[in-house]
Amino acid sequence: MNLLQKLGPNLSALRPYEPGRPIEEVARELGLDPDSIVKLASNESALGPSPKAMQALEEAIGECHLYPDGGAWELRQALSEEHGVAPEQLILGNGSNEILEFVGHCFMRGDTHVVFSAHAFVVYRLLARMFGCKSTQVPMGADLRHDLDAMATAIQDDTSVVFVCNPNNPTGTAVAADELERFCECVPEDVLIVLDEAYAEIALTLMPPSMDWVERFPNLLVCRSFSKAYGLAGLRIGYGVACQELATALGKVRQPFNTNRLAQQAAVAALSDQAFVTSSRELYRSEKNFFEQQLTAMGVSFLPTAANFILIQVDASLEPARRLRENGIIVRPMEVYDLPNHIRITFGTRTENLRCLNALRDLLAES
Ligand SMILES: Cc1ncc(COP(=O)(O)O)c(C=O)c1O
Repeated sequence: MNLLQKLGPNLSALRPYEPGRPIEEVARELGLDPDSIVKLASNESALGPSPKAMQALEEAIGECHLYPDGGAWELRQALSEEHGVAPEQLILGNGSNEILEFVGHCFMRGDTHVVFSAHAFVVYRLLARMFGCKSTQVPMGADLRHDLDAMATAIQDDTSVVFVCNPNNPTGTAVAADELERFCECVPEDVLIVLDEAYAEIALTLMPPSMDWVERFPNLLVCRSFSKAYGLAGLRIGYGVACQELATALGKVRQPFNTNRLAQQAAVAALSDQAFVTSSRELYRSEKNFFEQQLTAMGVSFLPTAANFILIQVDASLEPARRLRENGIIVRPMEVYDLPNHIRITFGTRTENLRCLNALRDLLAES
């Protein structure tokens, strides 16, 4: 047997996560000036990082020779005040993706089963493969919203985790508070509900009061990210909120210094900059309206989105992602989400969005 065969069948067959193509990579590949490229592929902040976070970074940079506070005391205090939960109910991650990975380490094995929607955030599927557990991908309704009743029904005796992404990436669709609360009531207590709210702060809809539910549902973990609303994707910081026992259990698999010093400082500052979050949300609301008007005029179908991106339908034969990329516009193809006739476009600034929409219009006109 050679060494790589010892990876086992799950890891051997695993295709790693493919992020949106970085600007530098596309510039190299196409011989373009990086400054001429617009990236609307990873749901990053259209307004850059929070200015308060940038100032905190400048102040913190001189202390990079010191390990961070592994327990991230200051950030946990700030989050605890923000959400009205105890600091012990919080767990910090190197991006909220790491919180999802903690869930895998703690609760996903060969003898367990997990449930998620067919077109939900692809990391759930990757985790199921990585940890070798069985999974059920529950079909969404025609409106590409989670079918929470079907998800509850898909839970079996060996189910350990059910993932609900709200608003959902990549569809942008959201579930209402009453539906979600009913779902939490139906899920057995020995099944972990992971409520992935990476887009909560900029959601263009009323978010369920999920943080208020973590005591009532001790099997509920709410995941949040600093990558989206706060514009700190490059620093990798996110967190989970749960009852204290669950947060402590997840902490068992955390590396001692998993979140770095700069990220912690920037996150504390960003959290205090709610004016930045409000202006981002206002921008996304107006760009959503703009996209909807323009797409309607072009006859392009789209889903009503509650996040900072929009899923639109374009025939795969037109190779829209490749052709937009050749025009210096990076969007996200959706084959990996089993939606080959769709692309996902992140809302950028008005100038960036206009460029994208104009290029899309030209592409459709040519066909
Ligand atoms: C639904 C969802 N969850 C989690 C993440 C991961 O975010 P982070 O950058 O905090 O790891 C993303 C990133 O795109 C996402 O869309």
